[in-house]
Amino acid sequence: MSTILFDCDTGIDDAITLLYLASLVRAGEAELIGVGTVHGNVDARTGALNTLRVLELVGIKGAEAGEAGEAGEAGVPVAVGASRPMAQDVHYAADWHGADGLGDIGLPEPAGRPVAESAAAQIVRLARSRPGEVTLLATGPLTNLGAALLLDPELPALVREVVVMGGAFDHPGNITTHAEANIWHDPEAADLVFAADWPVVLVPLDATHPTAVDDRWLDGLAAHDSDAARFATRILEFYVTAYTPTLKRRGAVIHDALAAMLAVRPELGTYVERPVRVELRGELTRGTTVWDARSLPAEDHRRPVRVAVGSDVTTFQDRLLAAVRSL
Ligand code: BDR
Ligand code: CA
Repeated sequence: MSTILFDCDTGIDDAITLLYLASLVRAGEAELIGVGTVHGNVDARTGALNTLRVLELVGIKGAEAGEAGEAGEAGVPVAVGASRPMAQDVHYAADWHGADGLGDIGLPEPAGRPVAESAAAQIVRLARSRPGEVTLLATGPLTNLGAALLLDPELPALVREVVVMGGAFDHPGNITTHAEANIWHDPEAADLVFAADWPVVLVPLDATHPTAVDDRWLDGLAAHDSDAARFATRILEFYVTAYTPTLKRRGAVIHDALAAMLAVRPELGTYVERPVRVELRGELTRGTTVWDARSLPAEDHRRPVRVAVGSDVTTFQDRLLAAVRSL
């Protein structure tokens, strides 16, 4: 059973990922011990409230405000994290996710509130409470993970694995010509994460784009009669409209859910292992992930990152659909 601490910027595909994680929890296949939010698709506080909205929809309550802890009787602690990147201005993604991050469908306030602890402090505390057990799944900019590394230099030895959705290698960027959004939103923090001595799995656009869902998948979701399926269908409507010009058909790339699925089912991915760096100075390429693809002995002595370059698309799509329909 995986022990997951989720760091995100909820966000439409982050919300679908929360539904997927909730299905794993319900099936006894994963434990969700906490969630932290970060600036990115929306501001970090809105992301935390969105997270609570999604969790409450599927019967998972947030821990009481002010109460730090681990998920259990008390609920899942949802912590607000960094409100801005380390070394640049903050940007949000209203065009892709709506001004409220969930497709502007007018959701009510959640019943619960975020805990008082910061997301970075929560990462350190939960990793220390379960040494060697925690999978840190990150589907937003990496500011909270970078800050946690600065807070506790021993963190890399305490975490089981870090799984990140972000980056683009042999694929165009989605926020600039070369950069992927999660990395571009905080390049310095991302580079800290790739430089640290911990096992990192990176799920870039090269792996996520081929998994774009289509009419069949979206119609299969819309046909299901449950609160979770209706919610997913409503928020995806905005995302699909945003994606249609890029895909040139009705569809959407649910990036973050692929990272979550590869965190618990790594055998569904194909990988290459290479040191990864983030371009921090390029005039046209700041925020781009870079690897040395030459077949030479690596000159870069950073610990190699396991980069997903493909996945079993049919199994991913079928399992994601089944997961949301199971709630
Ligand atoms: C990533 O950027 C965000 O908009 C999505 O939620 C995803 O995490 C894709 O580049
Ligand atoms: Ca995200």
